[in-house]
Amino acid sequence: MAIIAPSLLSADFTRMGEEVREIESAGAKVLHIDIMDGHFVPNLTFGYSMVKALRPLTDMVFDVHLMMTDPIDYIEDFAKAGADVITVHTECDSDLNECIDLIHKCGKKAGLSVKPKTAPEVLFNYLDRLEHILIMTVEPGFGGQSMMPECLAKIAPIKAECAARELRIPVMIDGGVNAANVRTAAEAGADMMVAGNAVFGAADRAEAFRRLSERSEI
Ligand code: DX5
Ligand code: ZN
Repeated sequence: MAIIAPSLLSADFTRMGEEVREIESAGAKVLHIDIMDGHFVPNLTFGYSMVKALRPLTDMVFDVHLMMTDPIDYIEDFAKAGADVITVHTECDSDLNECIDLIHKCGKKAGLSVKPKTAPEVLFNYLDRLEHILIMTVEPGFGGQSMMPECLAKIAPIKAECAARELRIPVMIDGGVNAANVRTAAEAGADMMVAGNAVFGAADRAEAFRRLSERSEI
């Protein structure tokens, strides 16, 4: 069974605390938190004060996805606010090794993400230093888009390279996961999947979360 990580981006912003408690009660272990800077992507979300406010409410792993041009300037803030995993994009302007160093210095797990047009091999130089890999299955910036299924083909070469180096790094996909494609994504090798609209767009979040989890079983 894959780990389904509900994405806060699709939650009801007028009741964030309740949303977080509800999905944790449903069994979610990981909360995906999308940070957009209006520059790396054409959208804005929220900042580290949101992470800090939610931190005392839950034991879920906070998986913070930085869609930022210069993530290096904000890593320490998100670490202090309570992030557990901090992921930056290979396409950002910050030096990726410096980002990974700083995330580790803050005592957090470091992730790298690739957008749909970026080749998976770009990650290979960094694999030995990563605890998390995030494959975008939509162009980042907005929830509720349709999955680009061709992006799933990136998972196999990454996992093969990890296996050859005896590394066990969870590979997460992000974008357009729903009950109809979650099994295909699991078969393609996704260990973890972000689900925004598919969880928070449902009237019964708990049921939607459980259905996605069950259908990811292969
Ligand atoms: C998109 C974000 C995703 C988004 C996914 O840029 O990185 O995490 O929340 O939302 P859905 O699951 O609705 O595609
Ligand atoms: Zn995301």
